[in-house]
Amino acid sequence: MKRTAFDFPLALARGSGDPLRVQVVHGLRVAVQTGRLPAGSALPSTRALAADLGISRGLVVEAYEQLRAEGYLIAQRGSATRVARRRLPDAPARRTRETPVVMQPPALAAWRPRFDFRPGVPDVSLFPARSWMRALRRVWADGAPAVLDYPDPQGVEPARTALASYLSRSRATVAEASRVVLCTGFAQAARLVAEVLRARGVRRMIVEDPGHADQCADIRAAGLELVPVPVDDGGLVVDRLATIDAGAALVTPAHQHPTGAVLDPERRAALLAWAETRRAFVLEDDYDAEYRYDRAPVGALQGLAPERVVYIGSASKMLAPSLRQGWLVVPAELVAGVRQAKLSADRGSPALEQLALAAFLEAGELDRHLRRTRGIYRRRRDALVGALGRYLPGTTVHGVAAGLHALVALPRSTDEPGVVAAAARNGVRVYGAREYHAVPAAAPPALLLGYGGVSEKDIEPGVKQLAKIIGGARR
Ligand SMILES: Cc1ncc(COP(=O)(O)O)c(C=O)c1O
Repeated sequence: MKRTAFDFPLALARGSGDPLRVQVVHGLRVAVQTGRLPAGSALPSTRALAADLGISRGLVVEAYEQLRAEGYLIAQRGSATRVARRRLPDAPARRTRETPVVMQPPALAAWRPRFDFRPGVPDVSLFPARSWMRALRRVWADGAPAVLDYPDPQGVEPARTALASYLSRSRATVAEASRVVLCTGFAQAARLVAEVLRARGVRRMIVEDPGHADQCADIRAAGLELVPVPVDDGGLVVDRLATIDAGAALVTPAHQHPTGAVLDPERRAALLAWAETRRAFVLEDDYDAEYRYDRAPVGALQGLAPERVVYIGSASKMLAPSLRQGWLVVPAELVAGVRQAKLSADRGSPALEQLALAAFLEAGELDRHLRRTRGIYRRRRDALVGALGRYLPGTTVHGVAAGLHALVALPRSTDEPGVVAAAARNGVRVYGAREYHAVPAAAPPALLLGYGGVSEKDIEPGVKQLAKIIGGARR
């Protein structure tokens, strides 16, 4: 077999369940970030790399496209694809060991696009820094130095109490402090619960299709098999569950990720009945519930069945992802297991930040911040929907007016990866939706347009630019 120009030891974990394309993208991205593939170096042809790795050429073509869209690679007609010469601002220090494959969206900006429609991020410039610092200072004044001791792994008591009361008031949960566990974002919450369920004999978890690839990888890493079930305009198609042998289901009922559907009331009831009959657990990712723009949010499922539903919330959209604060409200029979899993994982989340969150909640600062930012994001969403109607009339915006992104269906004939790549070359960062599907190749073309990180005044020119690109791609 003809070898590539350089020996590229990209280890693919074939039995891992992570799609090979995602593994190739990740492996190449890490190689660029760590300098293993230096700036300016030529990559092998897609044909040669595919042959070397023993995978289809199409997978490598898609991986190169994706990394071009992210700004890691550049391609010029008639010459080899090369590593971009730009300095990558977020390049981590050179690592000596192979980084494990984690399915992550390209969260860290490798290049600064003129218009950034990255989904799933809030506008961090809106972070209420002053009131957060005030809360931190108060915690220090009241609690130092005892606050520096090892924390309760389940979460410090004042934070559990403040969250229980906030969630019961604003999300209609049935939450007592003894059932609340604080952790490192939704990501850790899902992982801990998956570990606990696995130890109790659960082997399969239902996930939404489309859904979130990262979460799926984390749950799989905890040893559970995933069973994708389709989503339509009413959320998860719950009818399908009857014939599936699974001990848990992960859902986003308030605002389905990524379609934006709200779980239909009859389906909510049917999902809980399914869980009751099977003695299964529903993991409720209360995604985007706080950001609803045209109607009051539906209450959490957990309030209807606190012994069958594991409620999971996060500060990542409401405040900032870097806080890494998340919380669970757990059925009584799972509390001890989740607490132990958290203890084993990291001995507990940082106490100062938990206490700051408690002080922040109790002073009504979160409510104030949400009231303010809801107005801002709503205007951005309206600007996006308006601009799409004017410049891209062939597209359809899915889902309800909520959250920080919109799923925008493109005309059937559109080449989604081609549009994402062409947009990146023209200074517009957009994300294709196919990544979120269990079978990406079968997914209808669509974009996930985030408006959390793009200012209101940039939305119209950004969409106009995108419309030109889509028009060009179709010609
Ligand atoms: C579907 C979904 N749920 C939850 C979260 C929040 O995750 P975390 O709290 O780990 O930041 C995200 C973040 O992107 C998400 O996409």
